[in-house]
Amino acid sequence: MTVPTARAAAALDTLREPPTLRNRSSVPGVVEVELTAAPARLRLFPGSPLVNAYAYNGTVPGPTLDVHEGDSVIIHLHNRLPDSTTVHCHGLHFSAHADGSPLDPIAPGQSYDYTFRIPRGWAGTYWYHPHVDKHTTFQVAMGLFGAIIIRAPHDPLAAMRIPEKLLILSDNRFDSTGAIAFPDPQSIQAEIDLENGREGNVLFVNGQVMPAIPIRRNEVQLWRIVNASASRAYRLALAGQSLIHVGSDGGLFERPVEARDILLANSGRAEVLVRGTGTPGSRTVLQDLPYDRYMPQTRPSDWDSTRTLLSLKVTSAPAGPPVEIPPVLRPIPALDTSNVAARRVIVMSQGQIDGKRMDMHRVDLRAYLGTTEIWEVQNVVGMDHPFHLHGLHFQVLDRDGVPEPYRSWIDLVNVPKHSSVRIVVHFEDFPGKWMYHCHILDHEDEGMMGILELLN
Ligand code: C2O
Ligand code: CU
Ligand code: CU
Repeated sequence: MTVPTARAAAALDTLREPPTLRNRSSVPGVVEVELTAAPARLRLFPGSPLVNAYAYNGTVPGPTLDVHEGDSVIIHLHNRLPDSTTVHCHGLHFSAHADGSPLDPIAPGQSYDYTFRIPRGWAGTYWYHPHVDKHTTFQVAMGLFGAIIIRAPHDPLAAMRIPEKLLILSDNRFDSTGAIAFPDPQSIQAEIDLENGREGNVLFVNGQVMPAIPIRRNEVQLWRIVNASASRAYRLALAGQSLIHVGSDGGLFERPVEARDILLANSGRAEVLVRGTGTPGSRTVLQDLPYDRYMPQTRPSDWDSTRTLLSLKVTSAPAGPPVEIPPVLRPIPALDTSNVAARRVIVMSQGQIDGKRMDMHRVDLRAYLGTTEIWEVQNVVGMDHPFHLHGLHFQVLDRDGVPEPYRSWIDLVNVPKHSSVRIVVHFEDFPGKWMYHCHILDHEDEGMMGILELLN
């Protein structure tokens, strides 16, 4: 049996999307869904035998939570795994009891209701994943991740009525029997995984290897891209054409930005518009260009190869009329930095934040609701660390002193090796304990995480 690599695989079939979680409530504005995390026997790549995996409702990726701003959401989680788990809705803004952080594990056999309301202004592309102490990498690698889409009542892209595709990027590693492979804890590979974060050599889009997307000439599609990899960063490019970058973690930018490539650190999201160009029958590929996020001593030897994720095929259908892309998407007011309650420096080193490892019984930072803070997140080591804050979104002020060219709402900022990023964050509501951490899941499991307590 041979394990396919993204490079060897031809376009196998047309992109499929995960099922949407069925809303069992008929009350307008209420979305009530059942989510069961359980072991499953699945075929994870073409030609693969059935192997042991974990899945939400039996699929990898899990089903998509598709909701609107203002909706009240109830997720009935049933944990049928042999381990404790949580469901963390990454990037959402809600009370701490809904966060699914490591402070609130759900034991095997137990159920838990995550209840929250989607605030106005949070339309965008998000995702959910387990967030259990020290075992997040394992559970995500076993197949537990899924997407969340939040829709706005007034959305200039929805008004275009263009086709929309969800692309969940993940990678995994398999042994010679086709089973999901984990290194022996004593091995060199385990040490390399701890350093780099676990990467796999098989790249998936929605659980498929090199699927194809058909597009008509002149057609414009919205792609919502989620990086659900445990640690792989993607530098995304469409060979031969530019991407129109319209949004990031927390939804749309103020204006579309034309980009040759987009760096998507793990757990980051990008919304892009893609136009059908080229002659009927021609095709291009979505590439992952080389990006050196690694420590020199553990950098993979093939780090500088370009990988392919999917193919985009121009159909022979007659060209549609040219589509006009709105020049303005939505306002993103700058957070007010004239009255800042605290300026902090947060130092990320290998496996630690501010020289400490995660302690569930310690509070590392305290801040007050109604205040704004500026955090300088420094990376003092020779590999990138993507910094994530729970329950909130923030804006980047500058990177190594260079002002951010345009504003966006993000919950994840990649801090490249030996560099620093200044972010501004406002605390409005929802007191409680919120995690901040490196989102390379092995680093998070290792304890590269702290607790921010928001106080009234
Ligand atoms: Cu994707 Cu602590 O989160
Ligand atoms: Cu999160
Ligand atoms: Cu890290």
